Amino acid sequence: MRLRRKPHTDEKLKQFEDLVTVGNVQPITKDSTRELYVELGTGKGDFITQIAERNPQINFIGLEVEATCVLAAARKVREHNLSNVRLIVFDVANIAELFAEHEVDRLYINFCDPWPKKRHAKRRLTHERFLELYKKILKRGGEFFFKTDNRGLFDYSLEQFALAGLEVRDVTNDLHANEPPDNIRTEYENKFSTAGVPINFCIARVANE
Ligand SMILES: C[S@@+](CC[C@H](N)C(=O)[O-])C[C@H]1O[C@@H](n2cnc3c(N)ncnc32)[C@H](O)[C@@H]1O
Repeated sequence: MRLRRKPHTDEKLKQFEDLVTVGNVQPITKDSTRELYVELGTGKGDFITQIAERNPQINFIGLEVEATCVLAAARKVREHNLSNVRLIVFDVANIAELFAEHEVDRLYINFCDPWPKKRHAKRRLTHERFLELYKKILKRGGEFFFKTDNRGLFDYSLEQFALAGLEVRDVTNDLHANEPPDNIRTEYENKFSTAGVPINFCIARVANE
């Protein structure tokens, strides 16, 4: 997937040079004293803004392929005056170029595109080719948190996690039926929930060895 950029968006992003980078640029957070959490497909930044505000001791990076979404997210991060967030206009397919092996403590995949056609399965962010990349960059014992409205994608993903040797816990097909107090609703989560669509959730963990 190519990075989607428009000249006027690039111009506007320049106001956020301390916060946003574009493409294969090494990010902040070589600060090994802090945990590093990364969100894949950050969208307009509702989730990363809230989670970073609640956890000022953790560094967060949001990866998003659409520059216009990154611009919206950057505005929110600035509004909330957060110093522990960086955003990168970036295709997750190249994530192994961005991080060192076992550098990342946790990943979040919130409502990624389901790519329902079988011939597009390779584009799903939970396809085995992505899982291999996540295993490389996540710390041993590191976890990723996965939420989706799409039951087909969820069932497919659970199969992929098992094939990849990931340990899965806290599986639910209706997260909001008994919503954990620390759940942070994303923009898409709010939309789907309002429309009465149940939210699927699980946590997948990379082995310790
Ligand atoms: C359905 S939206 C969900 C947005 C947000 N996570 C939420 O839950 O509200 C999926 C987002 O992932 C982004 N995306 C899709 N494929 C991507 C990729 N390969 N790399 C980075 N971002 C991607 C899209 O541009 C879009 O903003």
